[in-house]
Amino acid sequence: MSDLAGGTAVVTGGGSGLGAAMAQLWAGEGMRVVALDIDAPAAAGTAEALRAGGTESLSAGVDVADPAALDVAAAQVRDTFGSVNVVCANVGVQHFDKLEDLTPETWHWVLGVNVVGTANTVNAFLPLLRAADGPRHIVLTSSVASVIPSPRQGVYVVSKFAVTGYADVLRQELAADGITVTTVFPSGMLTNHLGSSLAARPSNLGPAELRDDDIAVVSSTSGDLAVELTTAEDAVSRLVAAVAAGEPYYFTHGDRLDELVARHRAIEAAYASMRAARADPSEGRSAPSDR
Ligand SMILES: NC(=O)c1ccc[n+]([C@@H]2O[C@H](COP(=O)([O-])OP(=O)(O)OC[C@H]3O[C@@H](n4cnc5c(N)ncnc54)[C@H](O)[C@@H]3O)[C@@H](O)[C@H]2O)c1
Repeated sequence: MSDLAGGTAVVTGGGSGLGAAMAQLWAGEGMRVVALDIDAPAAAGTAEALRAGGTESLSAGVDVADPAALDVAAAQVRDTFGSVNVVCANVGVQHFDKLEDLTPETWHWVLGVNVVGTANTVNAFLPLLRAADGPRHIVLTSSVASVIPSPRQGVYVVSKFAVTGYADVLRQELAADGITVTTVFPSGMLTNHLGSSLAARPSNLGPAELRDDDIAVVSSTSGDLAVELTTAEDAVSRLVAAVAAGEPYYFTHGDRLDELVARHRAIEAAYASMRAARADPSEGRSAPSDR
């Protein structure tokens, strides 16, 4: 048990996979747990399992793209538990397609859930975090796809880049409040992600199909999935320590450091090249001051 014991944790996407594993994790720390999910029975299942293990728990069916629904959930949490110490904005939906084939409706859905839904979640629960005594943490689920992007997942990659950027800014903006922000970068997990994304897809987008061609490209460019897949429980096994320490970044698992480093080296090299060119008198100007 840590000093989180007796506090309250809220987890979106808490009905399944990584969210359900996070819910169990906070319960294991002696916290009360709120599971929110667009799939209300799944969220209720998580809460019921937690209660069976002796954890005080609430659940609600909430679409994170709907700020009003999140506000209702936050009011219920405030009335029941008073304040919140940990908020996990964990929902993300996946969609495979070439960028050129994405419709505006699909962009709107995926960015609305993954990006705006993350901001909606933080905004709904921030007053309850600020009202809490003791440790206060925000945990945002991004993806390894936001540091090692790959084809046919464009809308998802863009959304997770946005989550990572949102987290980096939020961390700076909340530092003075003593609220930490940890970004989680999962690699492939044995969850229901593709299935739940299809189920949560708005009906006005029409039926989605998982095309073999897209799956083959994603599989061949996303690392060796057979090696990388792990369980959600294993993925969060070091998370409490990272969050409690206020670590900014948490990678669940994987073996793709070379690709990550190569991308960052290319960015560094481009920046260094700019610096060298602008410092070169033959360019006809002096180096500007650093920013
Ligand atoms: N599974 C992977 O391989 C993988 C890899 C990298 C990142 N992630 C990220 O991990 C997070 C959790 O995914 P998971 O793998 O546990 O999938 P999951 O399907 O097991 O859980 C996702 C949950 O989110 C819920 N959900 C979907 N849309 C929602 C909405 N609009 N509002 C509220 N709830 C909604 C689903 O009903 C589901 O219960 C996501 O952000 C995902 O992008 C997953």
